[in-house]
Amino acid sequence: MIKKLLSYVKEYKIYAILTPLVMVGEVLMEVMIPLVMADIIDNGLTGGMGVWYVAKRGLLMVGMCLVSLACGALGGTFGAKASMGFAKNLRGALFAKVQDFSFGNVDHFSTSSLVTRLTTDVNHVQMSFMMLIRSAVRSPMMLIGAVIMAVRVKASLAGIFLVAIPVLGISLWLISSTAHPRFKKMLKKYDALNATVQENLIGIRIVKAFVRERHEIEKFDVSADDVRTAQKRAEKVIILNGPVMQLTMYACIIAVLFLGGKMVIGGSFELGKLASFLTYIGQILNSLMMLSMLFIMMIISIAAARRITEVLDEVPDINDDKADPALTVADGSITFEKASFSYHKDPNNLNLTEIELSIKSGETIGIIGGTGSAKTSLVQLIPRLYDPLSGRVLVGGRDVKEYPLSTLRDSVAMVLQKNVLFSGTIRENLLWGNENATQEEIEEACRNADAHGFITSFPGGYETELGQGGVNVSGGQKQRLCIARALLKKPKIIILDDSTSAVDTATDARIRASFKKNLAHTTCLIIAQRISSVMDADRIVVMDDGRISAVGTHEELLKTSKIYQEVYHSQQKGGEE
Ligand SMILES: Nc1ncnc2c1ncn2[C@@H]1O[C@H](COP(=O)(O)OP(=O)(O)OP(=O)(O)O)[C@@H](O)[C@H]1O
Ligand SMILES: [Mg+2]
Repeated sequence: MIKKLLSYVKEYKIYAILTPLVMVGEVLMEVMIPLVMADIIDNGLTGGMGVWYVAKRGLLMVGMCLVSLACGALGGTFGAKASMGFAKNLRGALFAKVQDFSFGNVDHFSTSSLVTRLTTDVNHVQMSFMMLIRSAVRSPMMLIGAVIMAVRVKASLAGIFLVAIPVLGISLWLISSTAHPRFKKMLKKYDALNATVQENLIGIRIVKAFVRERHEIEKFDVSADDVRTAQKRAEKVIILNGPVMQLTMYACIIAVLFLGGKMVIGGSFELGKLASFLTYIGQILNSLMMLSMLFIMMIISIAAARRITEVLDEVPDINDDKADPALTVADGSITFEKASFSYHKDPNNLNLTEIELSIKSGETIGIIGGTGSAKTSLVQLIPRLYDPLSGRVLVGGRDVKEYPLSTLRDSVAMVLQKNVLFSGTIRENLLWGNENATQEEIEEACRNADAHGFITSFPGGYETELGQGGVNVSGGQKQRLCIARALLKKPKIIILDDSTSAVDTATDARIRASFKKNLAHTTCLIIAQRISSVMDADRIVVMDDGRISAVGTHEELLKTSKIYQEVYHSQQKGGEE
């Protein structure tokens, strides 16, 4: 896992290598400085070598400090560069991966979890990567260097570490093994918090419409409080680290002062060396502290790293590896051959059962059925938004799996039931259908979708800015823009999934009329709730509970299909009232 993640350091590798190297420079200086200090005290001050000696050695010490400072600053800069670049690459890879995901893959993770993985989780990994390259080399080196120096200065005094280091090690281990599960829990709570915020922001209009703000605030407070509690539980353990360190450090210092002081008085140890010994103790404990922090940071980010690799390792369940890139869609015919489908890939829990249907190129097919009867599920198989569990779906006489996805989806335009526009102008949004479309083509598509009229009535016309998600237009206008966007592809098959639900019946009729006139050679699949939207189709498919219940023209179905009759009569009555 770690190796896989580290492969994204890529072009920032040089910084990732330079960071520990300059850190080595810093450590070398830091462990040497106390030696110079001891020399100044013992030879310069008490040894009577004179002021010049002290000044010269002092200058050397200043120089070493400057080198150490420069190395430290460079290490910081390189470390930051490496970790930020690493995070950028990782995010880019995750984002690209998510673009390859099928609807099924997205269902698997849920959108909010993907957002958390791309943001918060990458941040955790970035932080610990920076700590890793800065301290993973520096702290152990500092530790080893300081211990060696301390032993060289006075081996008998260094015996104190034999007691102190195991004590510290054990308490560190206790602290981190208690903290690990608590941090894992904390990350989960963060997930929940993010999901709450995301759901609220996406649905903010609904929240307001239902006056649910109080409730939402309460829900958020609960999530935020959960995070706080979980964090407190985890941090409570971590903060023990500080006092334990301090306690050990002061105990060591007292022991060294006591034993070392006796030696100095007895004349077997010089005062300067005692001072440098004390500095080494500080360095040893400091590096142990850093190591423990690094350890804890790693513990936190392992959970995040795992979540990131899950996304990177996910196999897109729809790909076109076996497709022939030269293949084109011959015509707009569609055939379902015993196609069954399940969102959960479970043959015992089918959402579509053994669909048999054959549609000729250029035909207009209406699809009608109660909510949840699998109308959307049925048409999603045509542009391969999902693949059938068994059976086949053919477009232009070939299995949809034989086409490259881009070829297939260019020929099959689908206006989704839950559609979105993106921030940008109306023209920019329409160009999604065909980026090379001319103004004439854009206008033609908009006329066919009955959108040209309202677009030109805006002061900005085609250059009108749509807010994020297309908030600046009405529901019905948005639907018509989505239809126009699909038409610009000049597809062989166009699928409208309840795409005129928000426009009035007169507009709906105008759109159908212009489809009939201008898109005679395009296969049209129109899912609708209103019988009036589909009654003049060549044939109508009646869906019921994941199966095709009946197929026929309006007149035929009125005679033969009970479901169709019921829907028709209920809508007629509604109309008369
Ligand atoms: N992403 C999904 N994951 C799991 N189950 C789903 C998913 N989408 C739909 N379903 C289930 O599949 C069944 C068919 O749903 P589908 O959306 O095809 O119905 P529909 O006929 O289009 O309904 P509507 O008229 O409300 O749009 C439903 O029982 C629904 O709960
Ligand atoms: Mg639907």
